[in-house]
Formats: sequence, C-alpha cells, structure tokens
Amino acid sequence: MGLNRRAFVLGGHITPFIGKHNPDFIWKRHPDFGKRENPTLEETITAAVIGALESTGTAAELIDKAWIGNFAGELFSSQGHLGAAVVGAHPGLMYKPIMRVEGACASGGLAYASALESIQAGADINLVVGAEVQTTVSARTGGDYLARASHYARQREIDDFTFPALFASRMKAYLQAYDDVTEADIGYFAKKAYDNANKNPLAHMKAVQMSLENAQAASDRNPNFLSNPELSPWLKMSDCSQVSDGGAAMILVSEEGLRKLGKTEADAIEILALDYAAGNLYQDADPLVMDTTAAAAGRAYAQAGITPGDVQVAEVHDCFTIAEALMYEALGFADKGKAVNLVKDGVTAIDGRLPVNTGGGLVGFGHPVGATGVKQVMEIYRQMKGQCGDYQMPSTPNVGLTANMGGSDKTVVVSVLKNLG
Ligand code: CAA
Repeated sequence: MGLNRRAFVLGGHITPFIGKHNPDFIWKRHPDFGKRENPTLEETITAAVIGALESTGTAAELIDKAWIGNFAGELFSSQGHLGAAVVGAHPGLMYKPIMRVEGACASGGLAYASALESIQAGADINLVVGAEVQTTVSARTGGDYLARASHYARQREIDDFTFPALFASRMKAYLQAYDDVTEADIGYFAKKAYDNANKNPLAHMKAVQMSLENAQAASDRNPNFLSNPELSPWLKMSDCSQVSDGGAAMILVSEEGLRKLGKTEADAIEILALDYAAGNLYQDADPLVMDTTAAAAGRAYAQAGITPGDVQVAEVHDCFTIAEALMYEALGFADKGKAVNLVKDGVTAIDGRLPVNTGGGLVGFGHPVGATGVKQVMEIYRQMKGQCGDYQMPSTPNVGLTANMGGSDKTVVVSVLKNLG
C-alpha cells in the first residue's frame, strides 16, 4: 500500500507470553495451582490495551478507531465478538468504531494493516490489539483448532498436528532438494531462538535451555512426535513454535496524531511501507518457496524504496524452524537453499549484521497466534528505542522489517519501519 499520509508507531505493550514450560504458567505441578489461574482472553486483551495506553500516554478517549487480531477465540475460549471485548478494557473506548479481523496467524498483522489504512483515510490515533489464549485445551486439541487455518477439508487428516505436519513436509522437501543442508544445520535456528528467549523476560521459553546438540537431532528429550510416518522423521519438538497465551497492543498515529498527543517523531518509529498478500487456500504451495511472502515483501520494498540489504533488524514468522529459513529466502536475505549460512555464521544473531527475531521469535518468545503480528512490530520499536534489555542489539537499528504469516504462506503481512531518533 503506497502511503499518502505519514504514519507512525508511537509504542505499545507486550504481555508476558506464557504456556507449558514457562515458570509463570499455572499447571498442576505449579506451587500456585488452585490458588490462581492463568490470564483469560478477556484479561489478556485488557492488559495489552491498558499497557499500550499507559506506556504511550494516550487517553482512551482520544482513540479514533481500533482493531483486534484474533484467530480462534470462539474455539479456545468460547468467545467471539472481540471488537466489543476491546471496549471492556477501558470505559473511554465506549462506542468507538472497533472491529476484529482474522487471517489465521496473520490476524495481528492484518489488524495493523487495517489501522494503517484508516490513517490513510484520515484517522489520527488508532489502537491495534492482538491476543490469543490457547492453553485452555491440550496441544493435540489445539492442533485441531489451528488446523482451521489450513484447508481443513483436505489437509486436516495429514496428522493430528496439522500445521507441524505441513511444515514437516516443507522440511523434508528442503533437505531433500539441497544436499548440502542437513538436519543438524536447521538446529541452529532453534538454538538461536532459545538463546535469545533466555535473555527475554517476556518470552514463553525464557527458562528453557537448548543446547545445539539437542536441537540438531531427535532424542528422548526432543522427540519426533508426528504420527504420519512419512513426515514424522522430519520434525522435532524443538522445531516448533509454542502453544502460548499472550497479547500485544500499540498506538498508530498520523503526524496530526503525534501533535494531538504532544509527541514528536523522535518518540515514534515511522511505517515506511506495509503490504499484504493472500495465496490460494485450496492449492498446495510449492514446499521450497514462500511466494506469498515474496509478493508482499516485493511490494513493501518497492514502496519503501529499499532493498533487502538495507534491513538492519527483522522479525520473521518462524512458526517452525524451516519457516525461518524459507522466510530469509522469500524476503531476499539469502539465495534459495542458502538460508542456513546466515544463522550458522551468526549473521542473524543479536550481534550480527542482520539480527532476526532478537526476542526469541515464535519458537522462543512464543506464538499466541493473534498477538504475533502486533508483537513483531513492537519488537522492532523496542530495538529501535533501546528497550530490549539483555537482548538489545549493540548498535541501534534504523531500518526494520516485519513478516507475519497466516497458514502455510497463505496470508502474509510485511512492513518496513524506520527509526526517527
Ligand atoms: N516421544 C514420542 N512422542 C511424544 C513424546 C515422546 N517423548 N512426548 C510427546 N509426544 C507426542 C505425544 O503424542 C503427545 O501427544 P499426546 O500427549 O496427546 O499423546 C504430543 O507429542 C504432544 O506432546 P505434549 O502435549 O506433551 O507436548 P507439548 O504440549 O509440549 O506440545 C508441540 C509440543 C506439540 C510441539 C506444541 O508446542 C505444538 O503443537 N506446537 C506448534 C503449534 C502450532 O502449530 N502453531 C501454529 C503454527 S502455524 C502458523 O503460525 C500459521 C497459522 O496460520 C496457523
């Protein structure tokens, strides 16, 4: 989308992402089990909204419009109609124009895109929310719910864990196509994700250590868990993003919105470009490429007037380790079949030339699906404003990119962001 009005991310809030293996997640062996419960979807939305309003000093009454990205509240929490749920976060939002958008795991990215389009149409101060609570059911039942983001009638039966299986098939194709890339090479993606998450207090996997050896081969501690015998050998637990609960929210403003809030460009980061693309849900993708990602990215680069070489920090949708590899290639960071070199050589490490997923990505930070696309933008904001604590990049980045994906490369939102001071 070409921008006719300048637009900025003024800041926002990310709640802790929690779930199994996180010390703050309440389950039957947690000392607080029976005494307190994990935040509900309602509480997660409220925490994200209030955090974003407070951290940016935005009065709820000044919000022009709001969007919430959520994939499957009806299934995980028996709750839909989430536009009106946002109003529940603050009385100042009463009767505001607010809607929920859905695009599978790109729901948050689409909420962001919608808010930007509304700024292009004249709004000045918009609220963007993303939230998902998924731990209300077992991972296996959750796998069925998440399978609604695939072509359910045709792809559900691949495995109980449909999405892990869809990406196992990409892993299989990739490792078979490129003889010089091994399962052990892919392990570097998981190792980076967990190392970064270990430095991030908000990350789902903040307390789980992952050795390179563990990430590189299946074992009792890191099993192949699919039941589909053709796909099972190609995916381990460590290759997967997490079943997480969490939310994120941010304030998008026009130049006039900055003025209304008494802020300057130095308080914000600018959205240089944003585009989104949809592929055909009913067709099998080429497992070796992410064409929908490439389409959205190509348009976003053109609008921003930059090339992949100009990107200094990126948040890419690593729902599985192989997805991070394919994203590097679709975004033009690496040639086809060469993505592993970037992670093995440390190029995409926090202190590398192009840090990717500095807070741990979907594998380490976690993946509350509707929140992810909003969290990615906030992570770029936080790196650009020096707010990342132990995982802060050594030099402040000026140009950042986000790539949020729904399904197996079926809905993709790419944006380019610039630091203004
Ligand atoms: N040996 C063999 N099998 C084992 C095992 C072992 N040691 N341990 C576990 N398993 C198997 C079991 O079959 C188990 O299922 P049951 O308990 O129901 O029998 C299964 O693995 C899962 O085990 P757990 O429930 O103990 O594992 P978990 O809760 O830690 O979950 C995970 C691990 C299954 C990998 C889970 O984290 C997961 O599903 N991750 C992926 C989430 C996902 O797909 N998100 C969407 C990404 S796709 C996207 O982003 C785009 C979009 O639009 C959807």
